[in-house]
Amino acid sequence: MDNSEGYAIELRGIVKRFPGVVANDGIDLKVRRGEIHCLLGENGAGKTTLMRVLYGLYRPEEGEIILNGQPVHMTSPRAALNHHVGMVHQHFRLVPTLSVEENIVLGLDEGTGPFVNFRKTREKISSIANEYGLSVDLQTKVWQLAVGQQQRVEILKALYREVDILIMDEPTSVLTPQEVDQLFTTLRTLVDDGLTIIFITHKLDEVMQVSDRVTVLRKGKVVSTLPTAETDKPTLARLMVGREVVFRLKKGPIKRREKILEVNDLHALNDRGLPALRGVSFDLFGGEILGVAGVSGNGQYELAEVLTGLRKSIKGRVFLAKKEVTNCSAREMNDLNVAHIPAERIRMGIVPALSIRENLILKKYRRPPFSYREFLDNKEIEENAHRAMSDYQIAAPSYETPAKLLSGGNIQKVILARELSENPSLIVAVHPTYGLDIGATEQVRQILLAQRERGAATLLISEDLEEIMTLSDRILVIFNGEVMGILDAESADIEEIGLMMAGTRHKGEEL
Ligand SMILES: Nc1ncnc2c1ncn2[C@@H]1O[C@H](COP(=O)(O)OP(=O)(O)OP(=O)(O)O)[C@@H](O)[C@H]1O
Ligand SMILES: [Mg+2]
Repeated sequence: MDNSEGYAIELRGIVKRFPGVVANDGIDLKVRRGEIHCLLGENGAGKTTLMRVLYGLYRPEEGEIILNGQPVHMTSPRAALNHHVGMVHQHFRLVPTLSVEENIVLGLDEGTGPFVNFRKTREKISSIANEYGLSVDLQTKVWQLAVGQQQRVEILKALYREVDILIMDEPTSVLTPQEVDQLFTTLRTLVDDGLTIIFITHKLDEVMQVSDRVTVLRKGKVVSTLPTAETDKPTLARLMVGREVVFRLKKGPIKRREKILEVNDLHALNDRGLPALRGVSFDLFGGEILGVAGVSGNGQYELAEVLTGLRKSIKGRVFLAKKEVTNCSAREMNDLNVAHIPAERIRMGIVPALSIRENLILKKYRRPPFSYREFLDNKEIEENAHRAMSDYQIAAPSYETPAKLLSGGNIQKVILARELSENPSLIVAVHPTYGLDIGATEQVRQILLAQRERGAATLLISEDLEEIMTLSDRILVIFNGEVMGILDAESADIEEIGLMMAGTRHKGEEL
């Protein structure tokens, strides 16, 4: 055998071009059998593209794929599965209206036709789930699952197909800290059983924690492959960005202004018709960031939806700048200048088929300066797109590029540019830095602080406690649809927040 011994995957000279971009520019990558190999790189560096090449979704213009020493042709995901390669995508591809079980067998020969052996299927899924700590109710419809559980289904789906190589594209950006720990335990068990895992992430802590080796990509090229034990976070950050990275945020003292939002005894149901909010009350002032901390599924998403008009409350009242807005529609809230940075950006944040230019004016094309009566002002719209692309450093060949062709991080930037361009009075931001690289994360945090400085009231919902602690002036902890307490961020300690997230009510004085 040649030197491919020991490598599960070898990519040689992969070139993948898209109109106007070379997404992969001659990439060589070797992944050892049984290792967790991280792929690291800024938004748009080409990580997802490379993995789609390996998974047979894209045909590269040049290059070779060698699995276990044998050259292979990955002509489709089916071919990839035949070679035991599976992928969990950045944006899940489950069918929401089908059950977990149906999603897992979907597309397999045994999953079609009238003679599905559900008993056998079920036994196999359950035994995989038990072995790797991936428990999930098989009969539940996928749309009813929290994102963390949907991810388990995606992993189960791959394991059910008996993959040897599992590609995971930013698997942790949608998970709570606890879910991340669980996932890492699962991944460790999988590699102990001989699987090979490629893991894309932006989080340097995770690279250090979970990987055996790491490859850094920049602008479509490999910068370096390193054993994780022989590197550190500053080195990786520098390799990724191409310069020294200073982590700094300028947060001025709070200048609290008038009350913008008042929420009184708010009650709402979740998608399954069960209580999600049970009497939530708080005030939010201009110039202030109120962080909402909580374990996923404790009502924070429903709160964001009620406040942006996407979900009806069943009891309680909401006031925006003293005006009652209880159960106003999403259009009305938008007209009242409430910005929404949603958690599920592909589904709720953009229209995938429309261009960047069009996505940027989705919510305001009916108004001047973009339109007068029924006429759209193309010059304004184009200038708006230019401005947004440069202000937010949206990387794309042009503003005519359809949003669905952007990298994950760049989609998020389009949403932020649209939502924050009109000086909103209230910003409801859910995981605003989800999927962003370190540079862009810092940029977004800086933007939120600038909005605070300008006087916007911001409700920041995030499961990233570090983010909540860095940005917030006060921290509201939510558990089981109830407010466990509101703390002053300056003096809040992370232990106490952790206890409150698990259901302990705050003893101190309410702010
Ligand atoms: N189907 C496509 N058509 C055209 N351009 C594409 C397509 N897919 C990706 N690109 C472009 O290729 C480049 C690399 O994108 P890719 O999605 O691989 O980046 P990434 O490293 O995964 O970034 P992120 O961290 O933001 O997810 C980007 O400039 C992107 O806009
Ligand atoms: Mg990506």
